[in-house]
Amino acid sequence: MHKLQRKLQTDHLHLLRLLKCLSHEIDCYDFDSQRSADLAVILSALDYMTVYSDKWHHPAEDIIFDRLLEKSVEQSDLIQALKNEHQTITQETHKIHELFKNVSEDCVVSANELLTSARHFIMLQKQHIEKESEYVYPLMDAAFSDEDWNAIEKEIILQNDPLFDESSKKEYDHLYRFIVDLEKSKQE
Ligand SMILES: [Fe+2]
Ligand SMILES: [Fe+2]
Repeated sequence: MHKLQRKLQTDHLHLLRLLKCLSHEIDCYDFDSQRSADLAVILSALDYMTVYSDKWHHPAEDIIFDRLLEKSVEQSDLIQALKNEHQTITQETHKIHELFKNVSEDCVVSANELLTSARHFIMLQKQHIEKESEYVYPLMDAAFSDEDWNAIEKEIILQNDPLFDESSKKEYDHLYRFIVDLEKSKQE
């Protein structure tokens, strides 16, 4: 497997971990929740998705998906739909980020609106990853030669993952510890 494909697949695993954590915090807005949400964690998670997933992961996939489309692979309609979803997800990340920024600035946002929008957003992201993992990523090995990957590599500027890469955890340190502690508490 090419290293770019591996990195993008690792991104998916990381994003699923993050979405689980986000979902756990969003549940605090449910009427019968006994906990209060850690707003810093929610804002940090949405910020990370804006600066890494929406600015690097999806654009990198767009370059790869365009090349798959040139090869007239099966699933072309789905690949096009997933490319369109990248734009939808980016818009939705922005919207939901603004919503929670309003909450942090003490603007009145109903718990119901937060719950509905955030759960919809999480579902959209999860389903997107599932479709890519199941139907699109398995096509890459057969579709791409070394020359294809070399050409793709020239178009994609590699970027560190600012949350999950060992070397660059500082900015999202609180969020990272929160994810790891939550995972530990669920295992116990
Ligand atoms: Fe994607
Ligand atoms: Fe993806």
